[in-house]
Amino acid sequence: MTRPAATTGLGAAHVLLTGGTGFVGQAVLERLLSAHPGTTVSLLVRTKGSASGEDRVRTLLRKPVFRAWREAAGEAGVEDALRRRIRVVEGGLDAVPPLPGDLDVVIHSASTVSFDPPIDQAFTTNVGGAIGLYEALRASGSTPHVVHVSTCYVGGLRKGVVPEARLEHTIDWRAEHAAATSARERVELASRRPARLRAFMERARAQHGKEGPQSVARASEAARVAWVTERLVDAGRTRAESLGWTDVYTLTKAFAERAAEELWAGTGGSLSVVRPAIIESALAHPFPGWIDGVKVADPLILAYGRGLLPEFPGLPDSVLDLIPVDYVVNAILAAAANPPAGGPEYLHIASGASNPLPFHRMFENVHAYFTAHPMPAPEGGHVPVPTWRFPGGRTVERAVARRRARLVRRERRLLRLPSTSRTRTRLAELGTNKSELETLESFTRLYRAYVQTEIIFDDTNARALHAALPAQARGDRGFDVTRIDWEHYLQHVHFPAITTLTRAYARRPEPGAGERRGTGELPRRTDVVAVFDLEGTVVDTNLVEQYLWVRSAGFGWAAWPGAVASILAQLPGYLRAERRDRGEFIRTFLRRYAGLPAAHLERIVGGGYAERMLAHASAAALERAAAHRAAGHRTVLVTGSIGTLTAPVAAAFDEVVASEMHVKDGRLTGFLARPPLVDEARANWLRQYAARGGFDLSASYGYGDSHADLAWLELLGHPHAVNPDGRLAREAGRRRWRIDTWRPSPRAVNRALMSANPVDADREEGAGGLH
Ligand SMILES: NC(=O)c1ccc[n+]([C@@H]2O[C@H](COP(=O)([O-])OP(=O)(O)OC[C@H]3O[C@@H](n4cnc5c(N)ncnc54)[C@H](OP(=O)(O)O)[C@@H]3O)[C@@H](O)[C@H]2O)c1
Repeated sequence: MTRPAATTGLGAAHVLLTGGTGFVGQAVLERLLSAHPGTTVSLLVRTKGSASGEDRVRTLLRKPVFRAWREAAGEAGVEDALRRRIRVVEGGLDAVPPLPGDLDVVIHSASTVSFDPPIDQAFTTNVGGAIGLYEALRASGSTPHVVHVSTCYVGGLRKGVVPEARLEHTIDWRAEHAAATSARERVELASRRPARLRAFMERARAQHGKEGPQSVARASEAARVAWVTERLVDAGRTRAESLGWTDVYTLTKAFAERAAEELWAGTGGSLSVVRPAIIESALAHPFPGWIDGVKVADPLILAYGRGLLPEFPGLPDSVLDLIPVDYVVNAILAAAANPPAGGPEYLHIASGASNPLPFHRMFENVHAYFTAHPMPAPEGGHVPVPTWRFPGGRTVERAVARRRARLVRRERRLLRLPSTSRTRTRLAELGTNKSELETLESFTRLYRAYVQTEIIFDDTNARALHAALPAQARGDRGFDVTRIDWEHYLQHVHFPAITTLTRAYARRPEPGAGERRGTGELPRRTDVVAVFDLEGTVVDTNLVEQYLWVRSAGFGWAAWPGAVASILAQLPGYLRAERRDRGEFIRTFLRRYAGLPAAHLERIVGGGYAERMLAHASAAALERAAAHRAAGHRTVLVTGSIGTLTAPVAAAFDEVVASEMHVKDGRLTGFLARPPLVDEARANWLRQYAARGGFDLSASYGYGDSHADLAWLELLGHPHAVNPDGRLAREAGRRRWRIDTWRPSPRAVNRALMSANPVDADREEGAGGLH
């Protein structure tokens, strides 16, 4: 196909750009500013938080894409452009504001580009947004040439060559839009039915009951919101598939094309529909490798580099249709400068037809790149990358389903076993395996359409437009995909660009992940707090044992059998209380101290009780506390029990936060002075403690052993699960937290404590009051 000579010039055009803050939009804006000095650009920008549209544009102009332009223009030139050439039309696609009446060109790039958004969100932005824009344009009196940015994948599930033409379908897109945008109301109502709310609450109670009532309420509401989102996402996916599309993104982009055709071209407007393939980093402009964050194909590439994808359900000969962003920008601006003579024109800006990159070649490239430049492994060393054999989509998907079923069965079995260091390690590994499997499953779902397709996007129109450009413009302003050397682009431009973006993340541990094996250097800081739970973490004991030690140390061995018998008699009640709420158990159990003279308890704790407790303390815990102190961190020992009972190990910490027991006439009453500091009460205390003391929780450390500790551990940047119970071990594995096993080591403990502050062993017998 030949066409008349084309131009790259936009002269003094007034251009309206939507999506100017996005990946493609900012690159279009940069080219307009740097290469089309006569143009005026109106930007449709919505407010974000407290930032106005204008604030956002000022911030935008400081991004790397504008660096060369800023340097060339100078600060005065930038201010001048802001004054004379850039206009902000504040507003969003959900309610398009009145538009200028003197527009020459409109580039509609704004869109939600997520593959899997809730159905109402996708339709509101992509379809409702196009309707709103073209109606507002009509109302403005402007008669611009419109470049409507769509996507190559807009045609849905297909095989073979897709022409650059109007999509063929007879779906009532307006009815689909109406049904989709009202879906949320129906699903929200369904989510609030009492039976459903009860189910959310029951599940939340089973999983978070130990963390406290607010955690249960939060989890229950989060489950309701997640249920609504899941239903709306599923509604989008299923409706798209039932109409022959891959996902709701491509379906709504198809209907947006209809809106442009019917509401703009259908009423006499000039229209070019530009359909790019998968847009990735710039080949040359504004500089090689420029990219604004991780884009469509990149999560897949990076997940491979991190060793998370042992196999992938792609077809080796399917074409992964990549296109550098500067080619897309050049094509959009060429289309903007050259309105079609007749009806709408369609342009595929894609590489698959003229310079295909099959998936197996892409794989060879990622394999070679990550073998030469491996990602750092969280536990040190480098991540080895797998070799894919491409056994076929179905085989991989079936293997994934079998693996999930195996993991679920193992998890059920392990949660029934008693918590030993072996079961804990297994549960933690299982948590990690499950989260890796979830990554693989979500990638498989999201990318299925892109790597299992046999589509080729015809690019005849795009090549004709390119060929019609002046010869001297075809280099810098061109988009001839046959010039792309894929090996060069991938190895030297694109992969380095995206791995540089993420390498810092790879090195920085996910919360606690980098320290899974080694303890790591502690950074010297004074705004860091290290919080240690006592029972089960620093000492390998519980309240019942402590009580028995108090009895035996204070009353001699003869007191043991009676105390044990009386505890055994009440054990079912204690266990029930413990299951319901740890605070309730502590409160109930500590009543046993009622009547004991406070001074006598202190003497017992300083004597025989101390010996026993120290025999159960972990030297690793005390050494860790000492290391934190040496790094300038504030060390805090926290217990739901009473402070007096922590005395033997207290010297190893800067502060002990514990309950106090009410004392009357010198004797303990058995009642606590304030509720015990456990689960979310401890989380609330920690928030307040950090706010008052100026501690940075994201840089702070926590050590806990129980699922009930989750509520406060998750507030910290460095959570550690120490001797975790089954549920905490599984969560820690899933979240890649560090897991430690700390064992009692009496001799080492004495050494550790002596260096902190020696404890006087002063034993005394006698006195009454214990039950
Ligand atoms: N990226 C690709 O690989 C690819 C491939 C083919 C086609 N495309 C098409 O290219 C166009 C640009 O994509 P992109 O990658 O630049 O996307 P992007 O980076 O996600 O940017 C989306 C832009 O749309 C704006 N936007 C979203 N919802 C809006 C709303 N309700 N009101 C006003 N503005 C809204 C965003 O503004 P805020 O900053 O306010 O959120 C942002 O400026 C889209 O039409 C997309 O379908 C992209």
